[in-house]
Amino acid sequence: MVEIAAGAVPSPNIWNSPQVYELENRAVDPDGLLEAAMRRIRPWDGAHVLDLGCGTGYHLPMFAREAARVVGVEPHSGLAAAARRRVRDLPNVTVRVGAAQAIPLPDASVDVVHARWAYFFGPGCEPGLAELRRVVRRGGAAMIIDNDATRSTFGGWFRRWLPSYDPQAVERFWARQGFQREPLLIRWLFERREDLAAVLRIEFPAELAETFLAEHPGCEVDYAVNLWWRYY
Ligand SMILES: C[S@@+](CC[C@H](N)C(=O)[O-])C[C@H]1O[C@@H](n2cnc3c(N)ncnc32)[C@H](O)[C@@H]1O
Repeated sequence: MVEIAAGAVPSPNIWNSPQVYELENRAVDPDGLLEAAMRRIRPWDGAHVLDLGCGTGYHLPMFAREAARVVGVEPHSGLAAAARRRVRDLPNVTVRVGAAQAIPLPDASVDVVHARWAYFFGPGCEPGLAELRRVVRRGGAAMIIDNDATRSTFGGWFRRWLPSYDPQAVERFWARQGFQREPLLIRWLFERREDLAAVLRIEFPAELAETFLAEHPGCEVDYAVNLWWRYY
């Protein structure tokens, strides 16, 4: 039976449809802008990396190629099991069930934290940020990827779905927490229109997904994100 660690933010997209979420991950950022920006901030060769809210572990192999050690932490035990299967041939990667509010790692044991569309969405994530201060070593860095709802086609969709979402309040929150903002304009690029349709149907309520599909032709979507980051 699936167990979900306390404090998990419900994530119906990947919890209910991990295969469709895999298509989404494959479509994200074909130009590698996010990876390049993260490397500029804090390269991970020889480092201890934590992927917090790692889902099915899509990003673990990328870190494992250069890191000394990679730990994926994921509150949903079924997804954690999928992540373990993905990295079973990578001896420097482990996956633990857990949540950002109680990271199952010792103090000062991590150099690089990556959290992508997971738990760190602005106000309310203070308990996880306190845990980052505990586990990240001096000289380490946390890098958090989330939507930038102020621009781009995807940002517009996000605002139409959640009109009360306040990007300025989110930005003020991260500034107060000592994070810097790196705005990036990435793309989703799907091989097939059906894949984009499937992804929109797990990301938005049914009616909105159909509206967005009717408005937006093709297999590509421009998508603004913020890479929030800080050193410790
Ligand atoms: C949208 S998915 C993204 C997964 C992964 N980061 C990726 O990019 O493929 C969000 C993930 O955050 C996880 N999550 C939810 N609450 C969390 C928490 N409190 N701490 C850590 N992860 C959490 C979910 O279980 C889910 O796997």
